[in-house]
Amino acid sequence: MCGIIGAVAQRDIADVLLAGLRCLEYRGYDSAGLLVVNTQGQTSLLRRVGKVSNLVDAAAQMVLSGETGIAHTRWATHGQPEEMNAHPQVSTNISVVHNGIIENHELLRKYLQGKGYVFLSETDTEVIAHLVHWEQKNGGSLLEAVQRAVPHLRGTYGMVILDSYSPGRLIAARSGSPLVIGRSIGENFIVSDPMALFPITRFFTYLEEGDIAQISCNDIIIVDQYSNCVQRREIESHLEYESCNKGTYTHYMQKEIYEQPKAIKNILTSRCTNGVVFFNELDCHAHALFEKVQHVKIVACGTSYHSGMVSRYWWESLAKISCDIEIASEFRYRQSVVRENSLFITLSQSGETADTLAALRLSKKLGYLGSLSICNVASSSLVRESDFALMTNAGIEVGVASTKSFTSQLVVLLLLVAKFCGLQDKNSSVEKYIVESLQKLPDYIDQVLLQDKLLSELSEEFADKNHVIFIGRGDHYPIAMEGALKLKEISYIHAEAYAAGELKHGPLALIDTHMPVIILAPCNTLLPKLKSNIEEVRARGGLLYIFTEAQSGFLNSERMRIIVLPHLEEVIAPIVYILPLQLLSYYVAIRKGTDLDKPRNLAKSVTVE
Ligand code: F6R
Repeated sequence: MCGIIGAVAQRDIADVLLAGLRCLEYRGYDSAGLLVVNTQGQTSLLRRVGKVSNLVDAAAQMVLSGETGIAHTRWATHGQPEEMNAHPQVSTNISVVHNGIIENHELLRKYLQGKGYVFLSETDTEVIAHLVHWEQKNGGSLLEAVQRAVPHLRGTYGMVILDSYSPGRLIAARSGSPLVIGRSIGENFIVSDPMALFPITRFFTYLEEGDIAQISCNDIIIVDQYSNCVQRREIESHLEYESCNKGTYTHYMQKEIYEQPKAIKNILTSRCTNGVVFFNELDCHAHALFEKVQHVKIVACGTSYHSGMVSRYWWESLAKISCDIEIASEFRYRQSVVRENSLFITLSQSGETADTLAALRLSKKLGYLGSLSICNVASSSLVRESDFALMTNAGIEVGVASTKSFTSQLVVLLLLVAKFCGLQDKNSSVEKYIVESLQKLPDYIDQVLLQDKLLSELSEEFADKNHVIFIGRGDHYPIAMEGALKLKEISYIHAEAYAAGELKHGPLALIDTHMPVIILAPCNTLLPKLKSNIEEVRARGGLLYIFTEAQSGFLNSERMRIIVLPHLEEVIAPIVYILPLQLLSYYVAIRKGTDLDKPRNLAKSVTVE
């Protein structure tokens, strides 16, 4: 969480910092700030509560002159979203922007108060500013002061430090939160996400854990955690800048929902030929390892966790490989038993989710055969730290609510399951069946997208509700969970999902004539069972919204709305059924007037635990 950008240039840099912050806003948006310093050492500090636009408006009323600067958009951890808690946090000449959490901040606060420092904020970040200031008094360069300060910090940080007595350079340090250096001609940058620098440069160097970097206009020096000067590989990014814009859509979420058929087509074209799955990025070591796999352990958070849950049904029913799936924040703090010949799989859109990353690091000590990540950001920590990685290549996802990254993860997971079927049996009819079914998926999704108007109308019936229940069975239970997550996160309506068979074990007590129940009812072997659950809800007066196929035999009636989806191959049905739920949530949020691309209290990339 939190977006950071820093720049050392030979031109006034405030506008570049503000434009960068706009791009980073998905990482947090409850306050924002910037500090610039010019060659005479004159500084301007500006901080505002609320969205980056508040800061931009305030900046328009001032002259912000300075060639060196740092800026920040915040997702509050310690301290309310108030101006005093916004970053940069300042200690005389030292200013800091920080992403992460300093866990021992209370101890450090007391220590620094003992040295005479007066704290003006409730943040954990302010201790960094005072600590570096204190260390600087012991002499040496700013880089050395930071090197002496960081061993005292417990927790996570990606931070950039500016000394206004010595403009023209910045120090950046990384432990747990991503930081990337962007190199340009006669100016250099440091940022949480390279996307924020796309209008300026395509050349990026990712800091590694424990790295500290000093950047000036023409120089970049990186030292590792052992104080050795190191060279990190520079990469050139070819990501499309256009994907950072909304284009003709009203919201990023809407654009990203509509991008799903294209994203899926891209995956299929690049990974399937003649009914066979190819993962070109997996070498012979990966294939040799896959042949030994008897169990798959999947760890992820949020929406990514839901895609893992769907895949469990595929792993076991199609590839006959046992699979279990766990939330990363739980896995990382419990003592678990590793099954023999287990592959550890992490799923993540961003590849920077703190809990998922920590789970991956833990897995390396536990005796798994190896680790594989399925991720949307090739340069992310998760990809770099996994033994093998498969990219979803869905394009940049800006909307905080995941949509295209979810369906792309599902497609890659299903292809992976197909690949395992192929490894077990070279002429696998299951692999062929999966690939052929997936080839039809973009068309099915296009058909569901045609229901846009109907779902927009339907959303009216939900806008004044306080609670909604979602139910499903089998591989549609996780889809019900994902549908409930979409609705709650962008419309702030309380939504819960239940496995339909569980209703009678408690949740049925919630049903009354005001309770809408969304039911996912594809035509599959579980439909008769689901029909009984539907009757249980109906008998108690619930308002039913059944997403199903024409063949299922449901008829519209009072208190029962039928939303008809295409008739589908069973294996791909869960991927199609999330589409109407994404659209429905989108339109409910529009009716409720929420800021749906940036819902309250959330951020896109959860880099704190
Ligand atoms: C919900 C959502 C979150 C993320 C979760 C994990 O729409 O986006 O629940 O899925 O924070 O993020 P990644 O996939 O980046 O690890």
